[in-house]
Amino acid sequence: MCSAAVADRKGGGRMYELTEEQKMLQQTVRQLAKEKVEPRAAEIDASGEYPWDMFELLRDNDLLALCFPEELDGAGGDLLTICIAIEELARVCTNTSLILAVCKLGSQPIMLAANDEQLKKYIPPLARGEKQAAFGLTEPGAGSDAAAMSTRAVKKGDKYIINGQKCFITNGGIADTYSIFAKTDESAGVKGISAFIVEKDFPGFEVGKIEHKMGIRGSQTTELIFTDMEVPAENLLGKEGEGFKIAMMTLDRTRPSIGAQAVGIATGALDHAIAYAKERVQFGGPIARLQGIQFMIADMAMQVEAARQLVYYSAALVERAGREASAVSAMAKCFASDVAMKVTVDAVQVLGGYGYMIEYPLERMMRDAKITQIYEGTNQVQRVVIARHLLG
Ligand code: CAA
Repeated sequence: MCSAAVADRKGGGRMYELTEEQKMLQQTVRQLAKEKVEPRAAEIDASGEYPWDMFELLRDNDLLALCFPEELDGAGGDLLTICIAIEELARVCTNTSLILAVCKLGSQPIMLAANDEQLKKYIPPLARGEKQAAFGLTEPGAGSDAAAMSTRAVKKGDKYIINGQKCFITNGGIADTYSIFAKTDESAGVKGISAFIVEKDFPGFEVGKIEHKMGIRGSQTTELIFTDMEVPAENLLGKEGEGFKIAMMTLDRTRPSIGAQAVGIATGALDHAIAYAKERVQFGGPIARLQGIQFMIADMAMQVEAARQLVYYSAALVERAGREASAVSAMAKCFASDVAMKVTVDAVQVLGGYGYMIEYPLERMMRDAKITQIYEGTNQVQRVVIARHLLG
């Protein structure tokens, strides 16, 4: 079924429209980002250290709370609202926007599959920003092929004993609460994968290597190592065998937020390219008067706007249409991240030699843009999701 058909059937054909509340939040986050986040962005990248002050800023301004319902101490933001906040933060600092994105990603499996006791125990501390979450799916031998995981969970009495290793975990070692996926039945393929809520203090939980990365250098990415890790049986999410579905449903709901991050990065790069083109004088006038530059700026703006519309639309659709919106969610993440890469490269070009220097933020934005084409499923995986949806 093509995506247009999905949209029509589920009422998604009506375009999203930002509410007054969403427009106000957009302005508030834009101002916060300009005043408090942008001045820290270069430092965070240079130090490669997790920016606890930015985490506190998001917590104190109730932005983390957006990811959770009011009855669990959250602020009840829908996905579009969260995307708007992520976009505004990413416009000045990808690392800070990722704090909000991973809050959504790490907690989404719990929001989707937890029972009442699990929700009451684990969500309010995340909503209040007392604790942080992370999502543990990827393994050294199971990246794009997530179902190939080798982490094993064996039930013994009232516990599961988990052995295995995860890698490239955003927020590893920073988070307190992890949504972890492991095989409970070797012979059942994807239906043998289960999801668990794991606390960092569980015996046998260990944070492995901290990665050094090209971009998002202020976000901590680590291995997780489980050695006879003891997880109470009541921490199983949903039923045994539902883990793969929970992981895929999570990614359907979080890929638009990576699209939003990409739109934010691209918009930030475009802001700088425009400002520079108006100031930089060559050949007797500002380079903004040159048609070669004008066409580049116009092309960048067109792509950014198209990406923004697709991201907002996918965010609005996925909460209404669920699984049937998988393809649109994948399109938004894929398209917006390809745009972020192209636009940041072109913005560096507009600044010429200055774009290449670390005194200007463009090279950082270009490095940060790259990850959006890779994490939460490579853009090749997104194309697989889209093609399967269309072709069956
Ligand atoms: N919703 C619900 N169920 C789904 C689903 C969805 N979106 N997608 C698939 N399923 C179900 C299927 O229906 C099927 O079940 P049935 O047999 O009952 O129909 C089952 O799951 C298996 O589906 P597939 O046959 O499509 O599975 P596959 O093995 O071919 O894999 C894939 C599909 C799309 C390639 C998947 O493996 C994938 O998304 N890979 C990428 C993983 C990924 O995104 N990793 C990123 C990690 S997180 C990260 O990067 C975050 C970070 O650090 C910030």
